[in-house]
Amino acid sequence: MNKRKILVTSALPYANGSIHLGHLVEYIQTDVWVRFQKMQEHEVHYVCADDTHGTPIMLRAEQEGITPRQLIDRVWHEHKADFDGFHVDFDNFYTTDSPENQEFCEDIYRKLEARDLIAKRPVEQFYDPVKQMFLPDRYIKGECPNCHAKDQYGDSCEACGATYSPTDVINPYSTVSGAKPERRSSKHHFFRLSDPRCKAFLEEWVFESFEGQSGTAVELKPRLQPEAANKMNEWLSGGLADWDISRDAPYFGFPIPGTGRKKFFYVWLDAPVGYFGSFRNYFKQKQRSQAEIDEFLQPGGNTEMVHFIGKDILYFHALFWPAMLKFSGYRTPTQIYAHGFLTVNGQKMSKSRGTFITAESYLRQGLNPEWLRYYYAAKLNDTMEDIDLNFDDFIARVNSDLVGKYINIASRCSGFITRRFGGKLIHTISEANRKWFNQFLFCQLGEGDTFLGRHVSIAHFYDHREYGKAIKEIMLAADVANQYVDRMKPWELAKNSAKHAELHEVCSVALNMFRILTIYLKPVLPKLATEAERFLGVSPLVWKDASSQNRLLPDGHQINDYEHLMTRIDPKQIEKLIEVNKESLQPPQIKPAQTMENNSSTPSTPSSPSRNGENVKGDTSAMMTIDEFARMDLRVARIVNAEQIAGADKLLKLTLDTGTEQRTVFAGIKSAYDPEQLKGRLTVMVANLAPRKMKFGISEGMVLAASDGNDGPYLLAPDEGAQPGMKVK
Ligand code: MSP
Ligand code: ZN
Repeated sequence: MNKRKILVTSALPYANGSIHLGHLVEYIQTDVWVRFQKMQEHEVHYVCADDTHGTPIMLRAEQEGITPRQLIDRVWHEHKADFDGFHVDFDNFYTTDSPENQEFCEDIYRKLEARDLIAKRPVEQFYDPVKQMFLPDRYIKGECPNCHAKDQYGDSCEACGATYSPTDVINPYSTVSGAKPERRSSKHHFFRLSDPRCKAFLEEWVFESFEGQSGTAVELKPRLQPEAANKMNEWLSGGLADWDISRDAPYFGFPIPGTGRKKFFYVWLDAPVGYFGSFRNYFKQKQRSQAEIDEFLQPGGNTEMVHFIGKDILYFHALFWPAMLKFSGYRTPTQIYAHGFLTVNGQKMSKSRGTFITAESYLRQGLNPEWLRYYYAAKLNDTMEDIDLNFDDFIARVNSDLVGKYINIASRCSGFITRRFGGKLIHTISEANRKWFNQFLFCQLGEGDTFLGRHVSIAHFYDHREYGKAIKEIMLAADVANQYVDRMKPWELAKNSAKHAELHEVCSVALNMFRILTIYLKPVLPKLATEAERFLGVSPLVWKDASSQNRLLPDGHQINDYEHLMTRIDPKQIEKLIEVNKESLQPPQIKPAQTMENNSSTPSTPSSPSRNGENVKGDTSAMMTIDEFARMDLRVARIVNAEQIAGADKLLKLTLDTGTEQRTVFAGIKSAYDPEQLKGRLTVMVANLAPRKMKFGISEGMVLAASDGNDGPYLLAPDEGAQPGMKVK
């Protein structure tokens, strides 16, 4: 078998958010593949990095009062800890904000320019005159031009589903400063994808197959999965537009050479180049030569470059990226493997349901990361279909497969070997036991006498990303092992001294089966496999340890004492996990049975000891503790709509955007405010006030306003920069 040389990547996670269980689908999928290829003794380099540039990161750092570099440095450590916790074993986890990446970006840009593939032309865009910056569309909100719903994003309406251009939005406002954005023009740099050379190249590249190795066989492999190729076909036949690769200052990114730091590379230009940056950094650390680096990054080398990505970023990886590489003279990807999205209990991950689960919270709750790795592996295939994490199924599967089938073999047989046979295994086995062992090692192909080694079929499944099929095959083997132990009943043999030799054989065969299952499962369960290797007294297992010559451990092989390898999942642990991931700002629990009598039409303030200002001075009974104050969930909210209520003389009906949801609040501010004046402005609300049924509907919170009985009310407003959802404390 030839040694493959493969550079493998997972998509670079954005540095402005935490790693969650959705991300982990990809990182676990890739890590399993990499570990499998390494067990096959191929040369594999698995690199990744944080994706650190762009407007959101710049603005978030500003909000937190730190520099973007401080922010990305902190997040890097968080991400790294999450990946380590889930045994995602990158050879290098780097950052896109690196000198290597900058050098590659500039080089690629210059080469594209030299080939006349860079165009410059003016683009008209929204500009925030207060913040003095151009705004990405996602920072524009306004009224939907189609259904007139308020507070819709600049490109699509959540109320009616219409999509439009941000210029069509009615009464647009900047979500950064609240200001009315202006239209301004500025010169942008484009990668000329519309050039016929690009189309010609992509049309060929996308549908090309190549001869690739899988196990000992050579097969024709496509660059993309069939569904991905279909998508590409759609995009290509729709015609390719030039790609805008520049952003105006202020921007956190790399300046475009020759623009005097006025223009920066758009984050999606430097992000995939970050794969190269991370790889080069890694090889430099390993003191590898330039020639060795070139072998992976220049065309013509006998190496593979494989990208694992989610289906949402196919466009960037299968269109822009190969074209960029091709025309700047670099190698293009060998294969792009796209996966689907994670749903939890059949639904999109949701903060209010507690199913938007962070990697960190999973680990902090003491859940075993290998449970999740196993479950994902059992569900994954080579398509772009979504995969569902169903918690009942998760618990059942891990408990029955891993604990009930796999671990069980070792825990039932090891004691006899250590207590009765000095921990030594026997190698020579009877015909009957040999038959069982063969049944364990081989699967029958169809009805006839053709058998295939399971190590071959499982390897094929891993290599083709059919992990679900691999796991199924492994569990069939585990079933044979368990049937064998059940039939031979070592615990019965142990009662009869005449069966001493038989007991030795049965337990030895069973532990050999356990060893082979460990090899099969090792890409998925690396930590458990290491512990099993210790117990078995073997050096790190590789794939060929499961093939013919090496199938039984030698005579007299010494094993170590068995220590319990894995516990069962307790359903309570899952309940707890969901509980801790429920966002504190939840939709109010409205219980219709609990109707409150309410005659006053003004929402009351929460009753607290300090309600009346006069009581505070000198009267400690009127004081509250910091904990009491902390019970109050005060949040910045945007008034996205305000309206008069027929028949109400004090109240206005407000719709508040809390950053994650919309709430209706009836506020007694009619005397002081015209509803039109209120729309779009920020204020402060009590977010955890029990909902009240009022004459005109249910009020789901309260806005804060100042008054002294004569003058007011004056609505509170945060300083510039505050965003809906921020906690006031
Ligand atoms: N920064 C870009 C990728 C740049 S690659 C040069 C990005 N980052 S991300 O953090 O949003 O996503 C990282 C990867 O995780 C992507 O491949 C994405 O598809 C994947 N996933 C993010 N959420 C996911 C699910 N809910 N389910 C499955 N995969 C998901 O995109
Ligand atoms: Zn609409």
